Amino acid sequence: MFEQQRSPSFDLVLTNARLVSMVPGDCGYEMSEPTNIAIRQGIIAEIGDNVETTKSESYDCQGQLVTPGFIDCHTHLVYAGNRANEFEMRLKGVPYQEIAKQGGGILSTVRATREASEEALIELALPRLDGLLRSGVTSVEVKSGYGLTLRDEVKMLRAAKALQDHRKVRVTTTLLAAHALPPEFAGKPDDYINFVCQEIIPLVAEEQLATSVDVFCESIGFDLAQTERVFIAAKEHGLRVKGHTEQLSNLGGSALTAQYEGLSADHIEYLDQAGVEALAQSGTVATLLPGAFYFLKETKRPPIELLRKLKVPIAIATDLNPGTSPFADLTMMMNMGCTLFGLTPEEALRGVTCHAAKALGYGQSRGQIQVGFDADFAIWDVSHPADFSYQQGVSRLSSRIVQGELDHV
Ligand code: NIG
Ligand code: FE
Repeated sequence: MFEQQRSPSFDLVLTNARLVSMVPGDCGYEMSEPTNIAIRQGIIAEIGDNVETTKSESYDCQGQLVTPGFIDCHTHLVYAGNRANEFEMRLKGVPYQEIAKQGGGILSTVRATREASEEALIELALPRLDGLLRSGVTSVEVKSGYGLTLRDEVKMLRAAKALQDHRKVRVTTTLLAAHALPPEFAGKPDDYINFVCQEIIPLVAEEQLATSVDVFCESIGFDLAQTERVFIAAKEHGLRVKGHTEQLSNLGGSALTAQYEGLSADHIEYLDQAGVEALAQSGTVATLLPGAFYFLKETKRPPIELLRKLKVPIAIATDLNPGTSPFADLTMMMNMGCTLFGLTPEEALRGVTCHAAKALGYGQSRGQIQVGFDADFAIWDVSHPADFSYQQGVSRLSSRIVQGELDHV
């Protein structure tokens, strides 16, 4: 009894792990020599060669590379319906904005999502989630935004949270009721924003259905004043904010997001110098979504050089959604971040680990291999961390560990 109390006991010890720790400022992208990680109650308890390995359950990583579990910090993976027809229209030259104006686009997914039950939404989302898990994801953000009524937004958020009952994964939910103007409010966007601020945000906060609130700040979404009203309501109810900003034009939404201490400004192809400076000042993460850029055949690239120069943390996410980024693969986005936007593979890896964690408000607990951080890892059969951004389509994931629990692929 006494002996047991004195001896270190861990829930799990990973041995022979080559760590890519992603600790900022450190040489986090470098691989360590094979070493050990001890896990207790879902948290990293000890790291190093001296970890006592004989008295606990252990898992031999056989010299494989261990990264923090990847974090997809921007998805819309809960939805019903299919927009392949719009893909065909766009290939024939009809612009995304035009399809949206004709009642297609986001609103076509809204119609299908409203008709689906919570259970149906979960069933439809699982294969998409599985794609992400195969690319090493252990945390995923999921937005609402295809319901646009109180009932349907709540249904989407509940479905997103319920994914955790079906898979080993951590889900963070974001309310995106201000995604598009629902047909019931046609011509009355300010009335809809009132409804979002007075009805939806208070209930979602009260029932803890989301931790942050997002707005599509764009000519085909909501303007700056409307966005600000949503941000004020979110803050009043103790929720963080983030934005779909500067995707198709420069409205100043990123600077507004920064002004409200936003977690992240996402897309940002049209971000200007003032916008980058605002992000730098507030510590807001710039989240790049190269899948949407690629799928919409955009040409304006985000201001990477300036973001680097002003040391704005850069995240990368899938934006997994039926209209602009139907891609359930985060390492493919890392590849696109490098080839389309000019990131280095090291920046791409930061973009799905430490910086993605910060974009979700978990900068001090996830996305790095450090004592005290959450025990979420991906174990990989690759020889160098650059490989994540390099080769695609070959399964290289050996296992994932979520909250200290192993999940074999
Ligand atoms: O992030 N930009 C707005 N929202 C999504 C697209 C949603 C859709 O087209 O269904 C995005 O690209
Ligand atoms: Fe999005």
